[in-house]
Amino acid sequence: MNVLENTFSLILNNNFKISWISSDFANFLGYAKEDLIGKTIDTIADEHIKNKLSHSKFFGALKDSSQGITTGIFDITKILDNHGNIQGYLVQFYFYDKQTETEDFLVFNTQNIKMKKLLERASLVAQSDVSVLISGETGTGKSRLAKWIHINSPRVAFPFVKINCSAIPETLFESEFFGYEKGAFTGATKDKLGKVEIADKGTLFLDEVGDLSLTSQAKLLVFVDTKEFERLGGNKPKKADVRIISATNKDLMEEVYKNNFRKDLYYRIAVIKIKIPPLRERKEDIPLIVNSFLHTKNKRITKRAMEFLIERQWYGNIRELRAVLESACILAYDKDTIDIEHLTEDISPFEENPESFSEDFQEKLLFDEKERIKTALEKTGGNRKKAAELLGISIATLWRKMKKYQLDFK
Ligand SMILES: Nc1ncnc2c1ncn2[C@@H]1O[C@H](COP(=O)(O)OP(=O)(O)OP(=O)(O)O)[C@@H](O)[C@H]1O
Ligand SMILES: [Mg+2]
Repeated sequence: MNVLENTFSLILNNNFKISWISSDFANFLGYAKEDLIGKTIDTIADEHIKNKLSHSKFFGALKDSSQGITTGIFDITKILDNHGNIQGYLVQFYFYDKQTETEDFLVFNTQNIKMKKLLERASLVAQSDVSVLISGETGTGKSRLAKWIHINSPRVAFPFVKINCSAIPETLFESEFFGYEKGAFTGATKDKLGKVEIADKGTLFLDEVGDLSLTSQAKLLVFVDTKEFERLGGNKPKKADVRIISATNKDLMEEVYKNNFRKDLYYRIAVIKIKIPPLRERKEDIPLIVNSFLHTKNKRITKRAMEFLIERQWYGNIRELRAVLESACILAYDKDTIDIEHLTEDISPFEENPESFSEDFQEKLLFDEKERIKTALEKTGGNRKKAAELLGISIATLWRKMKKYQLDFK
């Protein structure tokens, strides 16, 4: 469970003024109870909270008397009179224990009109239980958007469970999705919950849904239709209340035409379709993303380096951009400012237009890459997994490059 036991309560009247607050809550916020009675809710919460009170649950921030911020879940119960008119609100606040992760996911840096519209739509969709299919090139933020929808939905206090469909072999589909009971097969020494059961009341995120085999799709269809499933070796059907969000970097409709994806499943998981545009179609977002990333590392960037980043086509989208920045920060570990020489990529330095690089420059790129890998390995004490993460490349790629540059760390 994501939610800590601690809950605080207060009551608002219909003018959004606090008519009652628990002493604990007032103390936590650094006030005496009496100081807060009669004050409006924005004394202790962000200014948009009034607009959100019509939602039953949402993620938001509290501010204390010294303007410190605590994020968590607001759970709202409307207080109605006999005619159904709103008299006030019972507000309960829970801490969210994955604060840092969640705060990061709260932000969708964008200045692009298409993206802004997309987010507006997504926040409306978040309030309902309809299934959503998110498509877009790799690294555009599909997983991030799925999480964002969950966090902005009434299901926020319940689990967000991701299944990477491309990693599940057909033979393990049922045990992964639906779980099994003790004795179902040799080796099943105790009951195992499936992902749908774990996600009960929350969100089930089917990542790379287009990679499911046709047999697995048929099994998934039954569940999507009925929300019922059976554990392997179980003898009675169970129910799970999940909201389904799926993501794909394929054109799933085309897969339907090619008979690789079931049409009936497609229509059920894609009631709402959201397509995230690639980064090169929203270049105004590049400075935003770059600056907010570098801010967390206490670094800045020169104008010409920023221009270099804006120019690039970013076929790996935001993931690639972040990887490049991450490795730039390693290379510029002793500097405050990232410059162009820190910005060459490990992944595909010549992806766009190889002719435009002079030979000297190509040599320099390779030299920089070797240096960057060396630095990453030194920083991580030769731990290849961590070094690869730092560099934003796979362990296999790191391995290959270490061989190429004859780098060896034991
Ligand atoms: N608007 C944004 N602002 C800041 N960071 C972002 C934004 N969108 C995505 N990211 C970050 O970019 C990276 C890639 O995003 P994500 O994993 O959601 O992409 P994806 O489309 O699911 O990729 P894939 O198809 O490879 O699974 C993540 O680190 C994510 O947090
Ligand atoms: Mg993803």
